[in-house]
Amino acid sequence: MTETVLRGRLLTFHRAPADGNDESAYTYHEDGALLIRDGMIAKRGTFAEITRAAPDAPVTDHRPKLMMAGFIDTHIHFPQVQVIASWGAQLLDWLNTYTFPEETRFADRGHADRMAAAFFDQLIAHGTTTAVAFCSVHRASVDAFFAEAARRDMAMLGGKVLMDRNAPEALLDTPQSGYDDTTALIGEWHARGRSRYVISPRFAITSTPEQMQMAQVLARENPDCHIQTHLSENHDEIAYTASLYPQARDYLDVYESHGLLRANTLLGHAIHLKPREVDALAATGAHPVFCPTSNLFLGSGLFDRARLERRGIRSGIASDVGAGTSYSMLQTLSEGYKVLQLQGQALHPLQAFDWATRGNAAVLGMEDRIGTLDEGTHADVVVLDSNATEAMALRMDRCQSLAEELFVLQIMGDDRAIDEVYVNGRACKHRDREACAGRR
Ligand code: GUN
Ligand code: ZN
Repeated sequence: MTETVLRGRLLTFHRAPADGNDESAYTYHEDGALLIRDGMIAKRGTFAEITRAAPDAPVTDHRPKLMMAGFIDTHIHFPQVQVIASWGAQLLDWLNTYTFPEETRFADRGHADRMAAAFFDQLIAHGTTTAVAFCSVHRASVDAFFAEAARRDMAMLGGKVLMDRNAPEALLDTPQSGYDDTTALIGEWHARGRSRYVISPRFAITSTPEQMQMAQVLARENPDCHIQTHLSENHDEIAYTASLYPQARDYLDVYESHGLLRANTLLGHAIHLKPREVDALAATGAHPVFCPTSNLFLGSGLFDRARLERRGIRSGIASDVGAGTSYSMLQTLSEGYKVLQLQGQALHPLQAFDWATRGNAAVLGMEDRIGTLDEGTHADVVVLDSNATEAMALRMDRCQSLAEELFVLQIMGDDRAIDEVYVNGRACKHRDREACAGRR
């Protein structure tokens, strides 16, 4: 049994803050600490309480920096690490011009391994300790992804995209091979260590109705697996989908009529929704995922969070790299703030930080394991430096509350504000970086 203590300012959320004054929604300690035992949070409290409980445990002192649960990114594309920042196109052209050609390279396990190491390094550098990822159509990309996650002991979710039409030949599976590969990968990786497999029909345009039927079988056979896809991101995409599925009542109905909507379903974007689609989301408990940097980058549109919240629909928030423009959940929250501002829905920083941690964990149904600093959860922790840059330090000089400080981090922060990251109790950004990567 190994015991260590992390000391610092400490913030963790218990539920979504109703507003900026909702102090019972979170716990904040000016001099807080976590007792970590075998990678788990054994106890949380003030430093005085924790040292009383474990007087002999070695202490890492992060004061005056701020400890919080590691960030969770609920929608990201692993094979797009070299697609990010590709110029000038909207969704369908962007896919055809930049994304599909790049994803063909992930058939090669050597390439996928190299990219997986680089991808996980980026996640850690930016304070993200859990992500839900689309891999490419190739099994090799999924093996590379989960092998790297296992090496680092990270709670990662992902799956091979199912796609059998409207893409280059080298990216196509078939309804049968997609089913067979997914079933084999679930057997190999799902619930092994901290990994979870996600059934991943890419989107309606790249799957035939026959493949959607196979996805339905996979969903039925694996109720414990999450499902992820894309929904109503772009007007041309929606029109094309309607032409490919003429029987569907609307875009969401393509997924709904194939039994793909349930409480562990994640629907990237969900921007241009019809009233019936909002009703169906509310009825099924499926979760839209807001991808602000991507939606602005591709000119897709403005996600209407308030409309969904009014119906009790809980959304995730995510980077969507490579259409997203930053791995940083701080930058994601910054752009999210601006997208919501345009619609009169200013996001309070307490709500923002809850969303990127506990909120996203709750959307995944994993709040009992990740997303908070609660006892009995994994010690996935980010240490934030609100004075990381000169410009931030200047602004911080005038900050008088925790909320103001959080807003500086949200608007001005990026990987420079990530001072350290713990994964299952191990310092992975700086101190034990090599050990965390497990192979260098
Ligand atoms: N829709 C289908 N595939 C993708 C993708 O890779 N990125 C985005 N942003 N939307 C998609
Ligand atoms: Zn996406």
